[in-house]
Amino acid sequence: MITRIENAFFLSTSSTTLLLRINEVGKPVTEYFGPRIEAVLPEAAFAKKEVTMGRTVVYDKDRSDTISLNDIPSDVSTLGKGDHHSPSLLLRSPKGVVFDFDFVSASIGEAKEMEGYPTPRGAKEELTLLLEDQAMGVQVELHYLVYEETNVIGRYVKIINLDEGKLTIEKAMSSQLVLENKQFELISNYGNWAGEFQAERQPLSHTRIEFGSDTGSAGDYHNPFFYLMAKGASLNHGDAYGFNLIYSGNHLQQIETDSYGKVRVLQGISPLNFRPTLAKGASFITPMAVLTYSNEGSNGIAHNFHSFIDGHVIPEHFSFVDRPVAYNNWEATYFKFSEHKIRSLIKKAAELGIELFVLDDGWFGHRDTEHSSLGDWKIYKKKLRHGIKGLADYAHKLGMKFGLWFEPEMISEDSDLFAAHPEYAVSDGIHKPSEGRFQRVIDMTNPEVRDYLFHALKGIISEAGIDYIKWDYNRIFSDLPASGTFCHDFILGLYDLLKRLRAEFPNLLMENCASGGGRNDLGMFSFFAQGWVSDDTDSFERAKMQAAMAVGYPQSVLSNHVSAKTSHQMLRKTSFGTKFDVAAIGVLGYELDIKELDPIDEREIKAQIAYYKEHRHLFQFGRYDVLQPLEDGALIIEVSDGKEAEVSYMNYLQTPHPGIETLRLVNLNPELTYDYAVRHEEIDFRRFGSIINQVTPIHLKEEGKLVNFISRRFGYGIEKFEGQAHGSLLLGGGLKLGRQWAGTGMNDQTRILLDFGGRLYRFKPKEN
Ligand code: GLA
Repeated sequence: MITRIENAFFLSTSSTTLLLRINEVGKPVTEYFGPRIEAVLPEAAFAKKEVTMGRTVVYDKDRSDTISLNDIPSDVSTLGKGDHHSPSLLLRSPKGVVFDFDFVSASIGEAKEMEGYPTPRGAKEELTLLLEDQAMGVQVELHYLVYEETNVIGRYVKIINLDEGKLTIEKAMSSQLVLENKQFELISNYGNWAGEFQAERQPLSHTRIEFGSDTGSAGDYHNPFFYLMAKGASLNHGDAYGFNLIYSGNHLQQIETDSYGKVRVLQGISPLNFRPTLAKGASFITPMAVLTYSNEGSNGIAHNFHSFIDGHVIPEHFSFVDRPVAYNNWEATYFKFSEHKIRSLIKKAAELGIELFVLDDGWFGHRDTEHSSLGDWKIYKKKLRHGIKGLADYAHKLGMKFGLWFEPEMISEDSDLFAAHPEYAVSDGIHKPSEGRFQRVIDMTNPEVRDYLFHALKGIISEAGIDYIKWDYNRIFSDLPASGTFCHDFILGLYDLLKRLRAEFPNLLMENCASGGGRNDLGMFSFFAQGWVSDDTDSFERAKMQAAMAVGYPQSVLSNHVSAKTSHQMLRKTSFGTKFDVAAIGVLGYELDIKELDPIDEREIKAQIAYYKEHRHLFQFGRYDVLQPLEDGALIIEVSDGKEAEVSYMNYLQTPHPGIETLRLVNLNPELTYDYAVRHEEIDFRRFGSIINQVTPIHLKEEGKLVNFISRRFGYGIEKFEGQAHGSLLLGGGLKLGRQWAGTGMNDQTRILLDFGGRLYRFKPKEN
């Protein structure tokens, strides 16, 4: 709800308020952003009459003899009028570089869709503040969209040139927010291939902090999502502010702490090699930034952003709709597959209870390695004699959906498309172009390229009856053309193509991928209902990445696969049980050779899929709370709906002296009695080594033939852990877990977790 009282604007959501006002010198400022307040008496929140700080510049002595633009919590900042922070707008016209925007008018109305960019749907109201520098002939509109029930405010900026002279934009940030310094810590996420979403925590200092991506995409190197935690804020308590950008290209985040107790947070398109120019009458719109506040710590940020993304960002057709359990052949076969092999995997997948079969890379052109065929989206007949349709029909006949891999934004030099259209590949026209993963980037700024891709994809999707596509993007940019907006235009071109495909196939489930999570951002999630988190499918690495990502993104977009026991990326060995306990917090899939499963593994995987289906909605859409961070010895996550819960437990390193652990939940009904149980798993006998001889009637050689034979069929059942507990206890003191293996003694309640081992616990109200 947006309420105006004279020059003050209350932007209120269900639990927060952002209070703006136009101050004495005609500048929009944020006076308050915190728990929801009544839209009355805004004056108490206003800054009191200023004093001039030492050497600072007094902005306009006629309007106020004390106010300096450097000291006020401005919503937009420029160069040259005394504000010496890094500005949110940097403009240049033939007249000069100093811009001074004054408030002209405000309007409150229905929220409008943004041109060229994805716009989260469902904002009821929008506030637009019109500012102008008359002398320079430039106007700026500040837009604020209120996503009421999810506590999110969307912000973007429009710049309009009314002057004869050409206006050059050197920097145009989507949002500037100035907060009182609450001794914040910044949590941002860096990463790289197979190691995306590495959460990093640092206190703010008076050194300006900057991060972002200049690779062409929002990037694994730094995700645009980050948050600030006030001193003393924790998982469930305290002031926390979350930020993100609805954009998939280069971006910049700046956090600047000044010496007078304020923190300025900027987010927007990276200004590096970004120089739009505006002729008279032309305008430029930034992508939308989103902000949220919670006084319930980092879990509060997750609750706000999850409901916002699930409800307003994800394509409407998939909003809160259960995603299928997938099988993907990549780590089972890589490029080495035949039609026969794929058919046998399809059959096996159906037997296990899989709902969607995905054929990954290698089905088109003459693609047997990474070196060829991108761009030739035609069936590799020698490999797949009956085409994609034959396979899709087979999967459909067995009751499964069928999905296919594409990498539309790339082109191989060894392809028919490149032979016919070398100009489709991005190059600066001067240097020998560099390749990444042996491929070139295709020029998405060219409408002819987009048309070609639209028809190529449409042809296969409709002809074969494809239900899902995995959209990959496997290299970063190089050899950019001279245009100062190439990277940005590329992203707008991509959005244009995606929009056409979404309109043509509203039911098509699309998974976003960029060598893993290299482009998991809100721009992409506006078109894709899920995203591949990382090519690293090792469950311990994944648990960390998923937890970092899930503060800003709902688990319904986290595509997680159970892969072979020995991780291809880490060579770390983990049980299928643990792999499932981690993968279940999100959208479950499998990616290993299911034709080679031992009987014990087949039993386990069938049971996992059945278990997941039974609790799927909770796993994908339940409220997500971190109960304990990994630093405290185990990562514990609860997904719940206020009545039922599933808890995933991922151990870090086993210690010789384990203490007593308690599981304390946060979102159950305190008045109900609960049945609780651990999901049954079996431990591979081989994990016990030769100590097993202490309990066996015959001697078994460590890793000997007999142990191997038995272990393929039977395992050691994990600890007994089931019973009843009252909701008030589960939320209060908590439930005691069995002690972990301690190297001595052991009973039927001892938890043998080992390094990086997992468990899954269920809490269900007792049936009368
Ligand atoms: C990327 C993806 C993988 C797989 C391969 C295929 O690396 O992240 O999941 O699809 O491409 O080449």
